[in-house]
Amino acid sequence: MTDHVGVRHLVVTRHALVRQVLADPERYRPDNALDAVTPMPVTALRVLAGHRFRLPPTLANNSGASHPQIRGIVADALHPAKVAAQRAWLTALVRERVARLRATLDAGAPVDLYADLAADLPLLVLARLVDLPDAPVGAVKEFARAALELFWAPLDDDRQVALAAEVGRFHHVLREFAATGGGLAAELRAAGHPPDVVVGALFFLLVAGQETTSQFLTLLLHRLAGEPAVRAALRAGDVAVADVVEEGLRLEPPIVTWRRVAAADGVLGDTAVPAGTSIVLWLARAGRDPAVVDAPDDFVPGQRGSRRHLAFGAGAHRCVGDVLARMEAAVVVAEAAPLLDGVTVIRPPWCPDNLTFRMPDAFVVRSVERPADQ
Ligand code: HEM
Repeated sequence: MTDHVGVRHLVVTRHALVRQVLADPERYRPDNALDAVTPMPVTALRVLAGHRFRLPPTLANNSGASHPQIRGIVADALHPAKVAAQRAWLTALVRERVARLRATLDAGAPVDLYADLAADLPLLVLARLVDLPDAPVGAVKEFARAALELFWAPLDDDRQVALAAEVGRFHHVLREFAATGGGLAAELRAAGHPPDVVVGALFFLLVAGQETTSQFLTLLLHRLAGEPAVRAALRAGDVAVADVVEEGLRLEPPIVTWRRVAAADGVLGDTAVPAGTSIVLWLARAGRDPAVVDAPDDFVPGQRGSRRHLAFGAGAHRCVGDVLARMEAAVVVAEAAPLLDGVTVIRPPWCPDNLTFRMPDAFVVRSVERPADQ
């Protein structure tokens, strides 16, 4: 298909073919993963240059020799044992929030399950696993959403300049932290990675490591609001929370597409793919491939094929935060799904036009039963 600026892309939807591309990083390279889908005008590039903005290949867009080592250091910080150690803390925090939200609902007032529950949780957990710059949560969220829009949305010049200023400003903060910060930044420095690479890794982690998950929590809660039978089965202990999370990832992935670029002429399925072709892997569609899942559009936890989604990608660049994202989602489903009983949705999530990220903006519900005095 041809996109909004006239660039042609090969869109891959079938599960087997998406997997085939992801599994072959030599032939289908990840180099274009973070390229701006709307080419930046000189004015926006100047703004970024003014902040000494650079995004060298580090993780998702790195097909070079440094990738395995950088990935290894990041994976260590997100080791399953370290993730498991955060579970009790997160459960207590979510429980406290859910109790407050329950009281608000019982008082007849609306609650926003994005702003009041999901938005900052992943960042708070990430900050306990990885040393991050001492910036207010709101500033990090704004920067991350600006980055997702700047690189993945169709935009006009003015908006690009405004977003470039926002992203550039925070990049500057990261640059200072990368030079002096402890934890992951210090480990990357000690392994001999230059400052640009340390900044690039932190930049990607701050975006990919929290914004994706808060989007997913919001989308999953919204989906569950419309799945009373699943909630009843959860209550009765008839379905496992982990199966609900997997089915959520399959049906409501926060990352809808991911890109690769063909390194050589070849054939994919029965389509000729010339070298240099931009390939858009429609991960969300692959999760609904009837060749893999029995009831592709239905939310059936544990059904055949439910776990075979590609929401986290596959192969050498597969998401290193999957264990963390799954843990966070499991805690939120276990603790917050009961809030959805007896509510009505007054504001479903609205998702802006974006090639890759869903970016829901709000999810507001209210109790169906209003107190007698209102
Ligand atoms: C529901 C939440 C999440 C989803 C759906 C998701 C999805 C993805 C996808 C599709 C990729 C590209 C995979 C590929 O190219 O094959 C990716 C890469 C990555 N993700 Fe996630 N992610 C999530 C949460 C996280 C979290 C919580 C972290 C870390 C705290 C994280 C860190 C990364 C990193 C570092 C990469 C690059 C890996 C590499 O290139 O080696 N992600 N993720």
